[in-house]
Amino acid sequence: MPDRIRLDGKTAVVTGAAGVIGAATVRLLAERGARIVAVDRRLQDLEAVIRELPASSEALAVAADVTVEDDVARYVSAATDRFGRIEIFYNNAGIEGEVKPITDYALEAFRRVIDVNVIGVFLGLKHVLAVMLKQNAGSIINTASIAGLLGSPPTAVYSASKHAVIGLTRSVAIECTGTGVRVNCVCPGLIESRMLGAIFEGRYGSTATPPRAIERVPARRLGQADEVASIVAFLASDDASYVSGSAYTVDGGRTAG
Ligand SMILES: NC(=O)c1ccc[n+]([C@@H]2O[C@H](COP(=O)([O-])OP(=O)(O)OC[C@H]3O[C@@H](n4cnc5c(N)ncnc54)[C@H](O)[C@@H]3O)[C@@H](O)[C@H]2O)c1
Repeated sequence: MPDRIRLDGKTAVVTGAAGVIGAATVRLLAERGARIVAVDRRLQDLEAVIRELPASSEALAVAADVTVEDDVARYVSAATDRFGRIEIFYNNAGIEGEVKPITDYALEAFRRVIDVNVIGVFLGLKHVLAVMLKQNAGSIINTASIAGLLGSPPTAVYSASKHAVIGLTRSVAIECTGTGVRVNCVCPGLIESRMLGAIFEGRYGSTATPPRAIERVPARRLGQADEVASIVAFLASDDASYVSGSAYTVDGGRTAG
């Protein structure tokens, strides 16, 4: 029986690939045999991620801004020019934005969060889906957050953007009815990372993890980027053949109660 979690010969496009979760996912997808197209803002950051991959990996780095439609079209055509198809799309680039109460939140900062976290995800969906629908096959995984399921002060704008990602995921999954394309999202909880430190700093005045944040997590610890990557790799694989339109929490149980 073929190993359904292997991704041999499949092409995976990953945005935000130089970030903590993106880089962990690129590593796991490559270890499982996928060919990688890594997308982020700076080429040198992507090259550092690619250097760490197994020697047998095939990987292409594309510097692009996910909020610019021409850049999105360019990373999609770079993937199809090099590898012919796109079977997996991890639509993951995101920013936390300002960590401030809404009365202090600058309009420009609000627009920037929506631009990256919602318009960036929309543009990726639009351009990659066009390729996958022609193939009649593919798996798209967007990165939402538990902030897309719960209110999250003082990151209300971030929370609003991630609620939008879940709405896009569910709606586009239904738009793909009758095709071989599945669309899901992951909702990471508190993952040990620069982004979480920045949110703690704005919320509690220090990047350190406060005990009260952990007390609300049944697993009693922060999550690791690898633990998000393993769910993304599952959703990307044929093992998840009956999974679409879902919002998978990877949060140690934080949203269970
Ligand atoms: N870290 C967490 O605790 C956590 C929890 C829930 C959800 N998330 C989500 O996971 C995703 C990855 O987060 P992370 O923790 O790895 O953060 P990160 O900051 O390490 O990575 C994000 C990456 O996105 C890239 N990026 C940002 N704007 C971009 C743009 N306009 N064009 C191209 N690339 C751009 C950044 O350069 C960075 O490499 C984000 O969508 C984030 O909202 C993170």
